[in-house]
Amino acid sequence: MLSRTHETEMTVLVTPDMSNFGGNMHGGELLKLLDKVAYTCAMRYCGKYVVTLSVDNVLFKHPIRIGEMLILKAAVNYTGRTSMEIGIRVISEDLQNGTVCHTNSSHFTMVAVDKEGHSSPVEPLVPETDVEKLRWEHAVQRKQLRQKNTN
Ligand SMILES: CC(C)(COP(=O)(O)OP(=O)(O)OC[C@H]1O[C@@H](n2cnc3c(N)ncnc32)[C@H](O)[C@@H]1OP(=O)(O)O)[C@@H](O)C(=O)NCCC(=O)NCCS
Repeated sequence: MLSRTHETEMTVLVTPDMSNFGGNMHGGELLKLLDKVAYTCAMRYCGKYVVTLSVDNVLFKHPIRIGEMLILKAAVNYTGRTSMEIGIRVISEDLQNGTVCHTNSSHFTMVAVDKEGHSSPVEPLVPETDVEKLRWEHAVQRKQLRQKNTN
């Protein structure tokens, strides 16, 4: 049975090998997880191999402690002809007392590519809810800004 979804959630335990010199989670480890969930979300949606074109505004709002659980919620916010913007929200959970904290949000642009590495079309997303329509509009604005700043 074919099942395409535009949402993906990943849960990861923050283990001691992910630590920085201060004893909290290393920022680079979090970036790696963000890239992984963006890749998974985009591939699951379009069913093609995807590469990362850009990463917007990763803000480290709160330190993440070793031993906490991270929940990475990703969704396709926007599709162009070949690109997809993936919005990611990261929530940390203290497993001892159950406290949750929104630690990061970011936007990744992923592009579907063919075997030669050329950009390849994806199925258009149809935003349905008000929230999805708003995310789409914001993604379009970010894309225009990115094009203005990088071309
Ligand atoms: C991603 C890649 C295949 C795109 O190649 P390209 O020649 O720019 O392809 P296209 O011109 O068809 O553009 C592809 C999409 O990217 C978008 N894009 C390209 N440059 C952009 C920019 N500066 N800002 C915003 N969007 C951009 C295009 O609008 C297009 O989206 P759309 O089809 O949804 O409208 C190519 O840049 C690449 O291989 N990059 C390296 C990827 C990689 O190695 N990632 C890992 C980095 S660690």
